[in-house]
Amino acid sequence: MPVIESRPDAAPSAEAIVSIRGVSKTYKSGFQALKRVDLDIRRGEIFALLGPNGAGKTTLISIVCGIVTGSEGNVLVDGHDIAHDFRSARSLIGLVPQELSTDAFESVWATVKFSRGLFGRAPDPAYLERVLRDLSLWEKRDAKIMTLSGGMKRRVLIAKALAHEPRVLFLDEPTAGVDVELRHDMWQMVHKLREAGVTIILTTHYIEEAEEMADRIGVISRGELIVVEEKTTLMRKLGKKQLSLQLQSPLSAIPADLADLPLELSADGQQLVYTFDTQTEETGIAPLLRRLSELGIDFKDLHSSESSLEDIFVSLVRSRA
Ligand SMILES: Nc1ncnc2c1ncn2[C@@H]1O[C@H](COP(=O)(O)OP(=O)(O)OP(=O)(O)O)[C@@H](O)[C@H]1O
Ligand SMILES: [Mg+2]
Repeated sequence: MPVIESRPDAAPSAEAIVSIRGVSKTYKSGFQALKRVDLDIRRGEIFALLGPNGAGKTTLISIVCGIVTGSEGNVLVDGHDIAHDFRSARSLIGLVPQELSTDAFESVWATVKFSRGLFGRAPDPAYLERVLRDLSLWEKRDAKIMTLSGGMKRRVLIAKALAHEPRVLFLDEPTAGVDVELRHDMWQMVHKLREAGVTIILTTHYIEEAEEMADRIGVISRGELIVVEEKTTLMRKLGKKQLSLQLQSPLSAIPADLADLPLELSADGQQLVYTFDTQTEETGIAPLLRRLSELGIDFKDLHSSESSLEDIFVSLVRSRA
């Protein structure tokens, strides 16, 4: 499987709201979690960062948010260097961390209000009320956080991240362990935020989430960014289609006459599977069916399937393992 290397140019581009250049991270333990990552996040996009456990997603987000210091490289957030101009850069960012950590004894309202103040924003109760209502937390505004369910705590983290009206929102595994309904609410909220001009970077292990939401996808594996691509392009470039033929009578082997074709025979000899690229103009299906009929191979049924983003992701990460 070819790996697309569409790296951004070395210079920061004007349309990028976050510009990551040559970022590496070696933890004190000596473990290298990131290897020279270059990435531009475009203003107003939804960017999904995918990768297996331990790939370096949280490390990268933590560096951009100034929580972890990179060993090499630099990060600009709307032109502000996260290391040298931390306060300006950080005030543009909202972060929903992967780990649930909230002030257990505070009320929802107090914690969200505090988060806004932390960034030097003037109080705006009407805005905070909107945020809480959007997240279905308004009824719970006076509840202590420790009395909320896990899903509600996650919503509180989102409310906190939005309290100071950030221009860039990082969501690190926003839907881990939340129910289907909340997941869909969150997708809606993300779309709404994007309409309001917020740039969104999310990580997720639910590939369907990236498939549903992202404009662009980045795949990170063992600290290296191996692919950055428009979602639709990625699916078209790396996607494969399969045509499965249910045979009238089983074959013991693929006929020698068809050896030049990308065919596979199921173990029971009942099904012939033809794999083709979604990129090529000629699928080769018509000649395949003609040649089968010439060989007297009849089929009773056929169906086609297309690889999902999940299939593509798995094969990309495997090819690097
Ligand atoms: N503080 C730390 N000290 C030493 N190693 C660390 C530290 N934090 C993370 N690592 C290591 O760096 C690697 C990347 O971790 P990171 O949390 O960035 O992965 P991730 O892609 O977010 O994974 P997950 O999908 O599980 O959240 C892992 O091998 C992890 O053990
Ligand atoms: Mg993580």
